[in-house]
Amino acid sequence: MNLSILARASILSSTLTSRTLNRTIPHRPISSSSLSYTPTSPNPKTPLFLRPPIFTATLTDLKKFQTWAQTLASSVGSSFTESDNGPCSEILHRELNWLIQDSVQTPDILSLNSDSKTDAVVKLRAELGDLYLLWKQRIEERRPFQYVVGCEHWRDLVLSVEEGVLIPRPETELMVDLVEGVVKERVGLKRGLWVDLGTGSGAIGIGIGRVLGDEGRVVAVDVSPVAVQVALFNVRRYGLEDKVSVKQGSWFEPLSGLEGQISGLVSNPPYIPSGHISGLQAEVGRHEPILALDGGEDGMSDLLHLCNGAASMLEPGGFFAFETNGEDQCRFLVDHMESVHNNSFCDLKIVPDFAGVQRFVTGFRS
Ligand SMILES: C[S@@+](CC[C@H](N)C(=O)[O-])C[C@H]1O[C@@H](n2cnc3c(N)ncnc32)[C@H](O)[C@@H]1O
Repeated sequence: MNLSILARASILSSTLTSRTLNRTIPHRPISSSSLSYTPTSPNPKTPLFLRPPIFTATLTDLKKFQTWAQTLASSVGSSFTESDNGPCSEILHRELNWLIQDSVQTPDILSLNSDSKTDAVVKLRAELGDLYLLWKQRIEERRPFQYVVGCEHWRDLVLSVEEGVLIPRPETELMVDLVEGVVKERVGLKRGLWVDLGTGSGAIGIGIGRVLGDEGRVVAVDVSPVAVQVALFNVRRYGLEDKVSVKQGSWFEPLSGLEGQISGLVSNPPYIPSGHISGLQAEVGRHEPILALDGGEDGMSDLLHLCNGAASMLEPGGFFAFETNGEDQCRFLVDHMESVHNNSFCDLKIVPDFAGVQRFVTGFRS
């Protein structure tokens, strides 16, 4: 397994340590604390921390939960890390604190010396019984923390996520920065039509929608019905319905009739070689959708398809950015563009991510 595969496989843990505290975002509460998680039944939910605190528990019972959950986290030690580079106890303890912060209206009460207040009633955003179940799922089933709390903090957004949708990764944030840089230099592109192919939670599409301001618009496409529902839910939570439309279909299919009219095309497609899927961290391989991960035998199937489509869909001067698995895929893509589409693209660049991995291929339609 090459390093870049490991980078994606281990990103879940790096995501956990980079959680931001920026939580003041507009939202429309659509609440349900149901715990079912079936990838095939789209049912986007408001992130746990934004749900109303309509449940209660005594401080004594909440402390019992905390002690039980801490013991379970400690029991993991470094076993997950040794087996598949999964989270160690230290990370799980940090996640437990986040879970408590997200679900308890006044989490500080747990750290006060409050022995005299054991009968105090604490308000919760989920039933105490559900918190036990959620933490068991986190440890025993290796259910990703982001699915447990129903969201991921990504760039300046908090995105709802659930089974059936890829948890957006920190390195993908750079795609939006790349677009922001390009539209500053080429203002005409800011007024155009942008597409985010394979939008998942809607992360890139929503990020670009905010960068474009009042002028341009975005079409976010995904073949997965769960992803489409979750992306729509996130678009609505950010009040971007007029700017970002979400369409279901395979890659360019929902864009027919727009050949040569697209100002910007971005995608973070599935790019992990099929043979590497079974070696992924349990949180990723067991719980995230295979449709979002598996890029065929060499991981290049979707990237090549997208690259070929970009030649016909982009307007002259239009920008594209593709995320890849790392340096080998970047070079393969650039070689393909130079040999097969030698007059179609210009200013091809390989751009590293924050960790220094050669991650993105960008360029313009000639
Ligand atoms: C690696 S995920 C990226 C998700 C999101 N853009 C992000 O960065 O978090 C790839 C996405 O491509 C979607 N996908 C896979 N095959 C597709 C196809 N044929 N047409 C459209 N989307 C597809 C998957 O459902 C998944 O949401």
